[in-house]
Amino acid sequence: GTAQIGVTGLAVMGRNLARNFARNGYTVAVHNRTTAKTDALVEEFGDEGAFVAARTPEEFVAALERPRRLVIMVKAGEPTDAVIQEFAPLLDEGDVIIDGGNAHFEDTRRREKELRGRGIHFVGAGISGGEEGALNGPSIMPGGSAESYASLGPMLEKIAAKAKDGTPCTTHIGPDGAGHFVKMVHNGIEYADMQLIGEAYQLLRDVAGYSPAQIADIFRTWNTGRLDSYLIEITAEVLSHVDAATGKPFVDVVLDRAEQKGTGRWTVQIALDLGVPVSGIAEAVFARSVSGHADLRDASRHLAGPTARKLREDEAPAFADQVEQALYASKIVAYTQGFHEITAGSEQYDWDIDLGKVAAIWRGGCIIRAAFLDRITSAYEAQPDMPSLLSDKSFAEEIAAAQDDWRTVIATAVAQGVPTPAFAATLAYYDSLRAERLPAALTQGQRDYFGAHTYHRTDREGTFHTLWGDDKSEVEN
Ligand code: 6PG
Repeated sequence: GTAQIGVTGLAVMGRNLARNFARNGYTVAVHNRTTAKTDALVEEFGDEGAFVAARTPEEFVAALERPRRLVIMVKAGEPTDAVIQEFAPLLDEGDVIIDGGNAHFEDTRRREKELRGRGIHFVGAGISGGEEGALNGPSIMPGGSAESYASLGPMLEKIAAKAKDGTPCTTHIGPDGAGHFVKMVHNGIEYADMQLIGEAYQLLRDVAGYSPAQIADIFRTWNTGRLDSYLIEITAEVLSHVDAATGKPFVDVVLDRAEQKGTGRWTVQIALDLGVPVSGIAEAVFARSVSGHADLRDASRHLAGPTARKLREDEAPAFADQVEQALYASKIVAYTQGFHEITAGSEQYDWDIDLGKVAAIWRGGCIIRAAFLDRITSAYEAQPDMPSLLSDKSFAEEIAAAQDDWRTVIATAVAQGVPTPAFAATLAYYDSLRAERLPAALTQGQRDYFGAHTYHRTDREGTFHTLWGDDKSEVEN
């Protein structure tokens, strides 16, 4: 075979990834279950580079130089297992299978282990950046053996997005499921970012009284500052779009029920298992879920509550500035929570993930790319063992400067009945961490009262129980 890489599964992500490899000078074997897609790809884009169209799995495998590298771009879950089972018997020791889908990292761990037993390297690679990224440079988060990265890494570095300083947005994340785990948390952060932007929009609309077009302009201004990011940029585009059929703002004609495919939910499920508080991300997932309960919402519209009062026109700009402060502070907390989950996952599974490198490869190509990730990168480079992003002095100082406005915005939202679950959850997390004492002491007392669950004391070592139903004396367990 002559192809340095193969891509099987030629839906839009697979097709664009194959074109990206070809445009970068690699010979790419392409394969799809129905050959019409393979033919269409070669016909439409054949002049972009060297493609080898394969009709059957056997032809596909034969087209690849050895050790073979084949990328699977099919739906996560059973379709991925089916394709692996189809190709694995045709491969030889040392070949590399790359799964570029949004797989659950536990599935990746299972597949990696099984294929390792057969001498095949399995690389679970998170790929972010949507269709456009796959074509012009995504952020790639590969997990798997160091050996497989040695053979694959240079190619991935070539096709990946480049950060402003020229660094490729890919790195070997760690063994087995590490890459898909990091992609999962990326998506959890993506959900939080999107929800926070959504809450900012709602406040600018309902409290400040701005129109979608005006809010688009505000976001464009924010995008020139510290909030500079892909998601803010596209939000402005979406908000300024006018529906052709009705002449109304596009955002007013779209059904307000958010959908999800699973990665955000997994981020929260796994965080619960690892004992990591990712409240901002969780509220973002729940907010999508609430939005989707149409019957419940219909049955609840009569419930009592204030109607947001529009500010006077001359008061609105100052409020918009406060919302910017709130959005930035909440965003720092959401990332703090996501990075905590990566730290916990890395410890739990022995992955030894470099958080600075994760931040660095999110600077370009991916959906959460943002100027702000440069700062996170430097923070972790300066202090790799930082217990939390909030331990970084410059982020702590920025929150200190933003917090009055952050609180005012949330207080206003509460007073006016505008739901801001992610703003509020991130502030509560921040206040919980800084609290001198938490009511957890009372929780321990309650647990000891009803279930003799015992407690620890602030002043002495040991495990204690109070004889609540008796003379309330304390016994040491
Ligand atoms: C990315 C995106 C991508 C996909 C999400 C959408 O990083 O390129 O995250 O993976 O668009 O999975 O997720 P939902 O459908 O759950 O919103």
